Amino acid sequence: MIWADRRLCDLLGIEHPIIQAPMSGSATPTLAAAVSNAGALGSLGCAEMSVEEFRAAFAEARALANGPINVNFFAHISPRADGGGLARARDFLKPIYAEAGLLEIPPWPQTIRAFDATILGPLLEAKPQIVSFHFGLPSPQAIRALKAQGAVILSTATTTAEARDLEARGADAVIAQGWEAGGHQGRYLSDQPAQIGTLVLVPQVVDAVQVPVIAAGGIADGRGIAAALALGASGVQMGTAFLWTDEAKVAPARREAMRRAGAGDTAMTKGFTGRPARAIVNRFVEAMAPHEDDLPPFPLLDGLTLPLDIAGATAGAPDYMGLLAGQSVARNRQGGAAELVETLAAETAAAIGGVAA
Ligand SMILES: Cc1cc2nc3c(=O)[nH]c(=O)nc-3n(C[C@H](O)[C@H](O)[C@H](O)COP(=O)(O)O)c2cc1C
Repeated sequence: MIWADRRLCDLLGIEHPIIQAPMSGSATPTLAAAVSNAGALGSLGCAEMSVEEFRAAFAEARALANGPINVNFFAHISPRADGGGLARARDFLKPIYAEAGLLEIPPWPQTIRAFDATILGPLLEAKPQIVSFHFGLPSPQAIRALKAQGAVILSTATTTAEARDLEARGADAVIAQGWEAGGHQGRYLSDQPAQIGTLVLVPQVVDAVQVPVIAAGGIADGRGIAAALALGASGVQMGTAFLWTDEAKVAPARREAMRRAGAGDTAMTKGFTGRPARAIVNRFVEAMAPHEDDLPPFPLLDGLTLPLDIAGATAGAPDYMGLLAGQSVARNRQGGAAELVETLAAETAAAIGGVAA
């Protein structure tokens, strides 16, 4: 398939204008490599990896892949103080832990890391071709250092203001992430979620910036990709669709919850980490709803909620797990990631041809 708008394909060195979203915890090296080998962009979500884990995951993906691999980090600033929020969260989490059948809240390390000097050095050594960020961009020095060695920089915008800001700070392409998207919203210029759907956001971002725009949020098949291209996007980033693939790391209880979920069964919640993320509504999301306005700063809450996710995955019980997924969850298909990329490319071509005819 020859795509009319080749700006993203040329920028990233890929055949199909499709990016498998970097999903921290779920996007494995085998997934990223399978996608890359099928001609799209495979990504690793590195936000919860130690330096050693990052090195190992990137080396594994690189060894398996013939094409480029994107590595993704969170660009938030680590909070210095919690304003007593963690103690208050412990109090309201106690009955939720009890409901889940757990006797106490175990001490848990903070795994979500902010992009800082400890990871910049190893990242420069690894020399990835593409680096993407969520929650803004890191320091101008870090961006300069990465660009100096030829890395392409991507980041997520949830409004036109964020898109302009990212472009001004050196992003080579902007991911326009709509309200439908699964996982964390990349919103960073405000604490409140941006409630703009992909269909509305994408053309506005296309008009606001010169760099190529990547549409994300609710895109689950070739019809969605064709629609995004018609809106002026140069490509798409898809998360939930790739969560279904064989190569994604998804606990069986979570897969089962995804299988049961319909388009209306997800919601945006701050209950997992303190920042808005879209997940399948379960008992945990409901129990956290009254506390949304009194949470410790991102990402501190994660250390208190992750044990519930792990316990649920171990017990095969999804009620208190973090079931991050987007509104397109019900549309998705199981199978290999390479097969999904091939199907998506063929479907997109057919959808574009069908409209023109
Ligand atoms: C399970 C899950 C985890 C995610 N983790 C990340 C992440 O680590 N970094 C990131 O930039 N985006 C992350 N996202 C958001 C995706 O990049 C993308 O915006 C989103 O998946 C697009 O919407 P869709 O799920 O409807 O395809 C995640 C999404 C999901 C579903």
